[in-house]
Order: sequence, then C-alpha cells, then structure tokens
Amino acid sequence: MYETLTEKANDVLSETFSLSNVDLDWRRPQEAMHGDISTAIALKLSKEVGQSPRDIAEKLIEGLSSLEDVSKVELAGPGYVNVWLTPKALIAALADTREACTARVKRGGAPVIVEYSQPNIAKPLGAHHLLTTLIGQSIANLYEHQGYDVIKWNYIGDWGTQFGKLAIAVGKWGDDRKASEYSIDELLALYVRFHEEVENDLTLDDAAREAFLKLEEGDAHLQSFWEDIVRTTKADLAALYETLHVSFDLDLGESFYQDKTDAVLHEGREKHVFTEGEGGSLIVQFSEESHLPPYLVQKGDGATLYSTRDIAQMRYRIDTYHPQEILIVTDIAQKLHFEQLVETCKQLQWKIPAFENVLSGRMRFADKSMSTRKGNVLKLKDVLEEAVRRAEEKIAEHEESIQTNDLGALASMMGVGAVSYGILSQNRKQDIIFDWEKMLSFDGNSAPYLQYTHARAKSVLRKAETEHADMPADMADLMEKERVLMGTLLEFSRVLEEARASHIPHILANYLFQLCQDFNSFYNDTPILKATEPERQFRLALTHCTASVLKTGAELLTISVPDRM
Ligand code: ARG
Repeated sequence: MYETLTEKANDVLSETFSLSNVDLDWRRPQEAMHGDISTAIALKLSKEVGQSPRDIAEKLIEGLSSLEDVSKVELAGPGYVNVWLTPKALIAALADTREACTARVKRGGAPVIVEYSQPNIAKPLGAHHLLTTLIGQSIANLYEHQGYDVIKWNYIGDWGTQFGKLAIAVGKWGDDRKASEYSIDELLALYVRFHEEVENDLTLDDAAREAFLKLEEGDAHLQSFWEDIVRTTKADLAALYETLHVSFDLDLGESFYQDKTDAVLHEGREKHVFTEGEGGSLIVQFSEESHLPPYLVQKGDGATLYSTRDIAQMRYRIDTYHPQEILIVTDIAQKLHFEQLVETCKQLQWKIPAFENVLSGRMRFADKSMSTRKGNVLKLKDVLEEAVRRAEEKIAEHEESIQTNDLGALASMMGVGAVSYGILSQNRKQDIIFDWEKMLSFDGNSAPYLQYTHARAKSVLRKAETEHADMPADMADLMEKERVLMGTLLEFSRVLEEARASHIPHILANYLFQLCQDFNSFYNDTPILKATEPERQFRLALTHCTASVLKTGAELLTISVPDRM
C-alpha cells in the first residue's frame, strides 16, 4: 500500500530537490481524525534542502493528491503530511494482511540459530524458566513465519559440578534404588539437601568436585549415573514443553562439548589469547576500554568451565551450520558472560555471524508468597496447574456467557495461555511481573480477553453461516469504527516484521490487544449480521480477517485460541 505513495513522493522529491530513494517512514497517526497514514519527512528534510517543512509538505501534498488511491491529503502541525486513502485502496491493501496470516515460503539462505530455555539438568523447570523459554520460542516462531530457516536449540546445562553434588547426595542420602528410578522431585530434594548439609560439612564440596572430575575422566559408573539423570530430566521437560507449545530441533547441551574444548584451549594458547592466571589457570584479559573483568577459561586443576564450553559451542555452531545469525536468550544475569564470550571470539580472530544475547529482566511476583526461598524453586509444573485451577474458577464466574461444552479443554487453554501471554505481553527488557489477577482478567491485556475476542468473531461468522466471507472490492463509504479496525488490521505484517527484527515479542502482543479493542468497539457499535448489503458482507469480511490475525498472532506467541468460549 505504501509503495505507490512512496514512489510518488520520491518523484516529487527528486524533481524539486534532486533527492532520491528517500525513506518516507510512513506512520499510522494515533487518532483516526489525522488520516490513515502520515509522514514527518518534510520536518526531517527541512535542514538538508534549506526550505521550511511546510513548504516541502505543500509540494508533497500536491503530488500525492493526484493519486487514484488517495482521497484526501492534509498538512498538519509544523509539517506533517496526513493521507486518507480511498475505501478501495484500503480494501486492496488488506490482501497483504491476509497473506501475513500464513507463513511465508522459505526464503533460503543461511539458518538462524535461536537458543532458549537451557535448563540445568537434574532440577525441574522453575517458573523463572518461562522467560527464556517463551521469549525464545516466540522469536523462533516469528523468524519461521517470515520464511527463515531456524534452528531451535536447547542448550541444556547437563555438565558441571552439580553432577558431582548429585552423585554424592544420592550415594549418601538416597535408598538402594537405581538412579533411573528417582523422580525429578526426589533428585531436587537430594540436591537441596546437599546444599543444606555442605554448610556444616565442607568436605562434601571436595567429594563432589572429585566425583565430577572422575566423570570428566570417563568413569563408567558415574557415566551411567549421569545418563540416567539426563534421561529422567528430559522426559520431564518434554511434557512441560508440550503443554507450553514449545519445541526444539536440537538439545545438544554442555556435555556435547566435552571433547571439543581441548581444541579451542589449544588454539587460544597458541594465539596468546589465553594466558596464565592464578594457580595455573587460564584466563582471557580484555582491553581497558572494554571494562570487562578477566574471563576464566580453565581452572588450575585442568577442569573446563561453562565459559570453555561456550567458546567451543560457538566454534561448533559456526563450522557446522554457517548461520547468518545466532540468538541466545537468557536472563540479565548472563550479560557479562556473553560480552566476555564475544570479545574472546574476536580476540581469537573468529569471524562470527550476527550475534545477540537476547536479554530479559527477572521475574517478580505480585504475590509475595510466591517469591522463592533460598534453594527452593517455584516449580513450573505447579504454576501451570494452579493457572488451570484459577481459569476454572474464572470460567465458573462467567458461567452464563460461556458457550463451550468442553470446559476442561477451555480451562487448560486459558490457564496456560494466561501465564504465557502474561509474560510475553511485557517488555522483556524490564523485570517481568507475574500477577495472577492481571493474567486471568477477562477484559484487560490478557490471554482470556484475546481468546474471548477470537471466539466472539468466530461466533459471528458461525451465525452468518460463513467461515470465509469474501471482501467486496469497494465500498462507497466507511464508518469510523470500520476505518479504525481496518487501519489496525493493515499494520499486522509490519508488526510481525518489527517484532521479529527487534526480538521483542511484546510488540506483537500489544498489537493484538489493540486489535481486540478495535474489534470489540466495532462489534459493539456496528450491526454486522443485521446490516444490509453490501455492508453486511464487508463487515463479515472484516470479522473474518480479525479472527485470522488474532489466531495467527496468538499462535506465534505460543497461545491457542478457542472457536467457542
Ligand atoms: N544453563 C544456563 C543457566 O541456566 C544458561 C545457558 C545459556 N546459554 C549458553 N550458551 N551459555 O544458567
């Protein structure tokens, strides 16, 4: 839709000011009374061309008014150009929105690696894991939807001293069952016990370190213990991921890099990037301007670290997949680690692809009793169960308006959706507030509101006995609520692209909330089923388009929406 306008504007700008290829940066005005789209380009160019913004705007207005798609152009404020399009042009542009409701064909090219979730094994997923898990999944979904080849990677924390600790704990306080027979909760309890007991018995720590070293050296007994624990944890993870609509292509974790750290340690020493630190350890030092503290890459006893495995991991990913981009979603606590990692790769003179450590704030709880106590995680499984229970209560409260006859399915869709949307609708760059009331509200920026709005649109289409209302090619006139709803629908593909490129899913969530509000306001004010033709057909088509956008958008955010509610 913007193309013809941009072309025309560029014709004007090149004729009058010899400028070419100007990005008009079209925006949708906040208020419908300021038109369908608007540009501030006259203000931006004023200095460069040495004319007042209003004079430049006048020239643009003259050119744009001559276009067939344009019904009106106005100068506003200090030099904004506000454009109203014809109903026909707006309707034609909706084709783009409808197209954005199906995934784009693969564009080919190098893959994008998105790494997220990355739990540490032998512990159940905690509520806080929702952040990286959901943010990562929705970013991966957005890339896939836009036609990128995506490798969804769960870099599981399946290596490290915690296995030594667990082996000691199972040996000391476990019963005579095989390691494979312990549940994840029992393993967690033993792990927590280790941390309690070590406060009074420091030798436990030494024993744990020794056990891990033995594991690293290939001790058969510890190796099979480790395999059992990994299997138990992965089975537990799989069930939760399924509930959350989260999936991975690979779950190569830290242990995978055991045999790949020697080579990078060697290279680092050869290139004098890894130098001797305290007690025979190896470290990387950074320039003063970088303000980064030294990076420990090998302990004095020869043991590798989290950092060593990440360096090896970078090398492996680059060599194996030649990705165009690597995204690693973590919470803010890992920021320094990744800055050091990237700097280390640079010192090693590796050519690394576009890289971002996509950060999220911390999870905070509106309900103080949910804040975790030391060593005690708030289990994700419990949180999701409670969410479904609370959704059941909400459904009971709204009993008279509920239409579905599968209450169980609705409650789980609503409960899980509420938690996921509750997180993804917040700016990941800030702390994420976990608030039951807000998440489950029927009329705020929440999954139930989104789900309800989708079901409402579907119900209108059911009553009209049409699932695919065709859009008329033109309308004589548009009501304000129709125009607003169309304007929002028209933004869908731009929003998808913006959310993908910035790696910020809440841009999409906010958009869907806006769309729900615009649709509900249209629905409340404008007769649809009782309208006469061609309005009836047109409004049904808008309703259909809204339902498709809501469903597509929600699913990109891992949320399911019901047809009836
Ligand atoms: N497993 C780590 C943790 O829970 C996060 C891993 C982040 N990814 C990475 N490539 N280091 O703290």
